Amino acid sequence: MIKKVGLIGLGTVGQGVLRAFKKNSSLITRRTSLNIKIAKVCDANQAKERVAKKFSLPFTTDPYEIINDSDIDIVIELIGGIEPAYTLVKDSLKSKKDVVTANKALLAKNGKSIFNLAAKNDLSVGFEASVCGAIPIIKSVSEGLVGCQVNKIFGILNGTANYILHKMEKENISFKKALSQAQDKGLAEQDPSFDIEGGDTLHKLCILSYLCYGVWPKLSKVYTEGITKVSLSDILYAKGLNYRIKLLAIAIRQKKTLDLRVHPVLVPLSHPLSGIPLAYNAVTLYTHPAGELLFFGEGAGGTPTSSSVVSDIVAIASGNKSFARREENMATIDIKDVKNKYYLRCMVQDRPGVLAKITKILASCEISISSVNQKGRSRGEFVPLIMITHEVKESDLRKAIRKIDRLSTVKSHSQLIRIEKL
Ligand code: HSE
Repeated sequence: MIKKVGLIGLGTVGQGVLRAFKKNSSLITRRTSLNIKIAKVCDANQAKERVAKKFSLPFTTDPYEIINDSDIDIVIELIGGIEPAYTLVKDSLKSKKDVVTANKALLAKNGKSIFNLAAKNDLSVGFEASVCGAIPIIKSVSEGLVGCQVNKIFGILNGTANYILHKMEKENISFKKALSQAQDKGLAEQDPSFDIEGGDTLHKLCILSYLCYGVWPKLSKVYTEGITKVSLSDILYAKGLNYRIKLLAIAIRQKKTLDLRVHPVLVPLSHPLSGIPLAYNAVTLYTHPAGELLFFGEGAGGTPTSSSVVSDIVAIASGNKSFARREENMATIDIKDVKNKYYLRCMVQDRPGVLAKITKILASCEISISSVNQKGRSRGEFVPLIMITHEVKESDLRKAIRKIDRLSTVKSHSQLIRIEKL
């Protein structure tokens, strides 16, 4: 049977999909007995016609030439962003076509209505490429781990942020310099805020939350902090304490609630996530009964990500409709109620009595200190004071920091980075 596919969006991933089909379509046919054909490609930019010509494919700038084509079975949306992608996905489903998308922002925001519409029409939405590029995390969770409870997720889901942190440490460079290296390599977008402020990681976490727990969280309810405030000195001090700073997506299932967060974390050097280099992605899942699992691989880029798009197309063409999850009712908890150990860096005047004032504030907020270390010696000048706390409630720690930052001997704002129980 021939399955016909229409592809909308000839960017990096779209072009990767065309290359993958050209190279591997006979392999796919041998393995699956399916005959999948790309019938038409579309891009709003007329100049992309040259890409279509290279692959001898019909080209259009009008996506509705694909959506309304009764010969086409599956629509691949690879344009990204919310609109017009949202309308095109909905209209494809209304025209009774299955959809494959890599659009994590769209799913994080509108996944609920998209999956409901697909279910109403007995159609599938494949989204393997939306989380961790080439890593088959979606199928692993939805199929391989279908009988498992996922108790915790810790993931490096944004390659650009990981690349920046990696380069800062390895080359002893500032955040700004590492960001500009990422931009030169074409990793970060011209406006890199989604990568460095944690928004991209948040979108991917929302998709994993749906997949593992049946919960589409409200984006604004998930605490999200990027890496822009992580300094080179924090990276080096953390390393001295046997930790590496990583931007993590975190999901912890409690009895009736879900703890979802995105922020930098001090990861012990002994944990595999601390060793994830460059722009790679990795996810650790703590499950029952499968135990602890680690997924690692390329999280971005047209060629690796095309593998995930192709696998969705093949799954849908084979009649697999196992992507959707039943929604569950679970409240998400506020970060202020989360308990953790913390790394604190306060810039303090180097003179007697300053530490005593700080520890007095910490004691008054019920915060117990595990270690204190002054970096450098410069009488009367500001020097870093590095403290590691025992486990404490975030709201208590924030209260203490507000008081510490008001001291005349402390330069605000003190740095706080969480230490998770990994
Ligand atoms: N911008 C993302 C990253 C890749 O840097 O990981 C696409 O999700």
